[in-house]
Amino acid sequence: MSNPRAVDPATQLVEPEHAFPVSEAHGALVTFPTGFEAKCDELITHYPVSKRSASLPLLHLWQETFGHISPQGIEWIAAKLDLQPINILELVTFYPMFRQHPIGRIQIKVCRTLSCALAGSYKLCDHFRERCGTATSDAHGIASSPEGKYAVEFVECIASCGTAPVIMINDDFHEAVTLQRADELLGKYD
Ligand code: FES
Repeated sequence: MSNPRAVDPATQLVEPEHAFPVSEAHGALVTFPTGFEAKCDELITHYPVSKRSASLPLLHLWQETFGHISPQGIEWIAAKLDLQPINILELVTFYPMFRQHPIGRIQIKVCRTLSCALAGSYKLCDHFRERCGTATSDAHGIASSPEGKYAVEFVECIASCGTAPVIMINDDFHEAVTLQRADELLGKYD
């Protein structure tokens, strides 16, 4: 592939050696935290007709727990649900919220839909990228800082158009974010 971070069009995978920023973690086997499998089993009970319907909840749980969906995650979830890995991989590659490689610990999402764009979200996103020292965006549109601390990305409308520009930092919502407020927030999450 010419762009080392591009998704291979044949497999829809980022090659492990090109995963960014912690490439060795991409293919590494994870150790399950206590209760992880029990939580998965409990989620599956919510879908008594077809446990295949638990695919998305299990993927969300895996990503919340391990930060991204690794090849091990795809295979483990498929086996858990009596599916083929391709059945899980197709979900991971279809939904943009799933990541196949590690990204920064502090995740900054900047809305770029119309109200926020008109209120300066493109400038705001550039400001975050500059302040966080992020590289250019990867194949998933995420720009991560080399030490793995920050990840900055654009997202579509997050439903607070009247208070644009709007961002999320990890699970926290922030409205009417000026460049000055952006700097204050970075200090807060440091
Ligand atoms: S356009 Fe940004 S929150 Fe709706």
